[in-house]
Amino acid sequence: FVNERTYQKYLEEGREEEFHKEFDKAVNELSSGIGKEYPLIIGKREIRTNEKIIVTVSFNSDLRLGIFQKATENELNEAIETAENAYKEWQYSDWKDRVEIAMRAAELMARHKFALAATITFENGKNRYEAMAEVDETIDYLRYYAYLLEENRGYIREMESRIYKNEKGYSVMRPYGTWFVVSPFNFPLAITATMTLGSVLTGNTAIVKPSSDTPLSAYNLIQILRRAGLPDGVVNYLTGKGSEIVTPALKSKRIAGLAFTGSKDVGHKLAKDFLDVDTRPIVMELGGKNAVIVTDKANIDKAVEGVFRGAFGFGGQKCSASSRIYVETNVYDTFLNKLVNRTKEAIIGDPTKKETFLGPLINSDAVSKYVKFVEEAKKGGGEILYGGEVIDVKRRLVKPTIVSNLPLSHWLWKTELFVPIILVTKIGSLEEGVKLANDVEYGLTAGIFSEDQKEIEYFFNKIEAGVVYANRMVGATTGAMPGVQPFGGWKHSGWTGKNAGGPYYLLSFMREQARTMYT
Ligand code: SER
Repeated sequence: FVNERTYQKYLEEGREEEFHKEFDKAVNELSSGIGKEYPLIIGKREIRTNEKIIVTVSFNSDLRLGIFQKATENELNEAIETAENAYKEWQYSDWKDRVEIAMRAAELMARHKFALAATITFENGKNRYEAMAEVDETIDYLRYYAYLLEENRGYIREMESRIYKNEKGYSVMRPYGTWFVVSPFNFPLAITATMTLGSVLTGNTAIVKPSSDTPLSAYNLIQILRRAGLPDGVVNYLTGKGSEIVTPALKSKRIAGLAFTGSKDVGHKLAKDFLDVDTRPIVMELGGKNAVIVTDKANIDKAVEGVFRGAFGFGGQKCSASSRIYVETNVYDTFLNKLVNRTKEAIIGDPTKKETFLGPLINSDAVSKYVKFVEEAKKGGGEILYGGEVIDVKRRLVKPTIVSNLPLSHWLWKTELFVPIILVTKIGSLEEGVKLANDVEYGLTAGIFSEDQKEIEYFFNKIEAGVVYANRMVGATTGAMPGVQPFGGWKHSGWTGKNAGGPYYLLSFMREQARTMYT
């Protein structure tokens, strides 16, 4: 298994200009083809409803990206029926066939990677580098899960019997039924993919409901899976309002499992409603309030670059975003000066342009939240070291923001913000930093900058988080790659404790059957 690293490869081969040309071409092609209508996909049927959802282009709200359907409980029921029917056969499908489908889908995706990346940029405003990294991540998920199926021989394992000679036993991991998959705006392709693949590559069927901000990437994913050979009805695509389709789906006993990625509050509510009806499996990746510790043994330049990217990449709208920065007193001023200077350099604007670091926030609610959090930070005694301003309300462009001196008791220290605002404070020691870092209900990612191996080990052992990094310059707490950094959270940041893109992920979508026979 080898990770796809598109942009880095172009760079290494001295073909950076070609990368940009390809991306520009994809942007132009997409621009001339936007505004189409996209159906629901239920089995092999493409369905249009009376009511529609209009999705606009991230960087120009006067342009329509697409017209999507607003499904109701009727379509949900049809989807459930269809997925149940497909399950009858799909549950017995050969795992080798599933591997082939995944590998074919990966190839299709690789072939269309620029178009897929441009779509992400148009949908959620991610810059071209991060959009391409997301397509790479999706290809990685396909290949990695295929690799896992092969590595584990389809999760069928012969057991040893030392008691009876005539006894033969197997452990067989088997699917549950139809999973309901609810995916977020921030990784509309990759996160939709991991949960959908977790479901269908293990023999379940799925109904996928993407975020209404970003339904097009999910549509692309489903179409690619179908073109790669996934039979009709194994994966179904529903767009619409949560109250119209998610709420009734959770109440239906015919849904076997729930996969969700999003905020902790929404996740816990969904889980509660889902489990009220029946005890059944849930896979969830929830929010974060991710801490970075910079000790006085850090290489400060590494720390500055890592924190800048981890905090402000995609405007802090990643569950993995660096959010709380704890810096040892001796290096505090140097670190902050450099961080402010680095942040000033960031180019904010049209995400389709190659020079842009930060595009628009996802929607106007995010801008309102940004404004509110900045105000609250000031009111609470925080000092805005940089940013704190909306550059353009209509285009939803805001400045990355660095806040210092906010009292540690302030609620902003505990709340996931999902906008580009970080809080920075001094610490007297690594021990104090770790204690503060752990003092939240979340436990998704965390990072340390230190050149001292003992400090790093202490941090890894004591920090309560599912994904931890030392000296990660490409984004202190962000950018996990499938098969390299399994991604998932502890505490209120997760559910199963088995991370996406990791060796145990697929197990969450299966149940074990011990088979024993006597001759
Ligand atoms: N997997 C992403 C990251 O690591 C977040 O969902 O940044």
